[in-house]
Amino acid sequence: MPGLTIGDTIPDLEVETTHGHLRLHDFIDDSWAIIFSHPGDFTPVCTTELGKIAEYAEEFNRRGIKLLGLSCDDLRSHKEWIKDIEAFTPGCRVTYPIIADPNREVIKQLNMVDPEEKDTNGNSVPSRALHIVGPDKRVKLSFLYPASTGRSMEEVLRVVESLKAAAKHKVATPVNWKPGDKVVISPSVSNEEARKLFPQGYQTADLPSKKDYLRFTNV
Ligand code: BEZ
Repeated sequence: MPGLTIGDTIPDLEVETTHGHLRLHDFIDDSWAIIFSHPGDFTPVCTTELGKIAEYAEEFNRRGIKLLGLSCDDLRSHKEWIKDIEAFTPGCRVTYPIIADPNREVIKQLNMVDPEEKDTNGNSVPSRALHIVGPDKRVKLSFLYPASTGRSMEEVLRVVESLKAAAKHKVATPVNWKPGDKVVISPSVSNEEARKLFPQGYQTADLPSKKDYLRFTNV
C-alpha cells in the first residue's frame, strides 16, 4: 500500500504525547500543523533539531501553525530528554507536544518509517519525516530526510510561507524564493483573469518561445 503523501487526509489517530492523549484531527482543528518525526531520544542530531524547533515555535505560532513532534521512545524518556534539549539550546522551551510511539504504530500510519535505520533491538525507527497539514487535514507538503541529515528550520518556515501564498492568491513560488520576493502567477490563470486578480500589475518574461507563461507579481 503506498504511504501517506501529498493530498492524502492524515489518519485521525489517537496518540499519547507529552501533553496527554490527543486525536490528530482535534489537535489540528482549523489550523495548519507541522508533524515531524525523529529517529530517537538522546541522539545528537535530534537534540539539536528539537531545540531549534522550540526556538522557532513563536514564529510558527504567529502564523497560526501548530507543532507536533514524534520520537519512538516512551513518555518518561521524552520528559527526561526535554531537559537535555532545553539545556543544549539555551533560552528555548519545548512547548509543543511530542508523541511517544514505542510500538511503531504511528510512524507506520504516517509514512515515517526509515527503511534502513534500526535501533539496538533491530526495531524500525522513524526517518526525519515532516508533514505540513492544512486545516482540511490533508498533507500539503512532506520532507523525507535520512537520520544523518538534520533539517533546516529556515527551510520549513520558507515553505510554510510558500504554501500559504499559494493557498491564498493563485500563485506559485519560483526557485530560491523567499518571503518578500516576487511570485509567479499560476499557469491555470489566463491573462484576462490575471489583470483582475492582480490589479497591482505583473511582468511577463520575454522568452524565445514567445509563450507568455512566466508572469511575476507581488502579493
Ligand atoms: C541523531 O539524531 O543524531 C541520529 C539518530 C539516529 C541515527 C543517526 C543519527
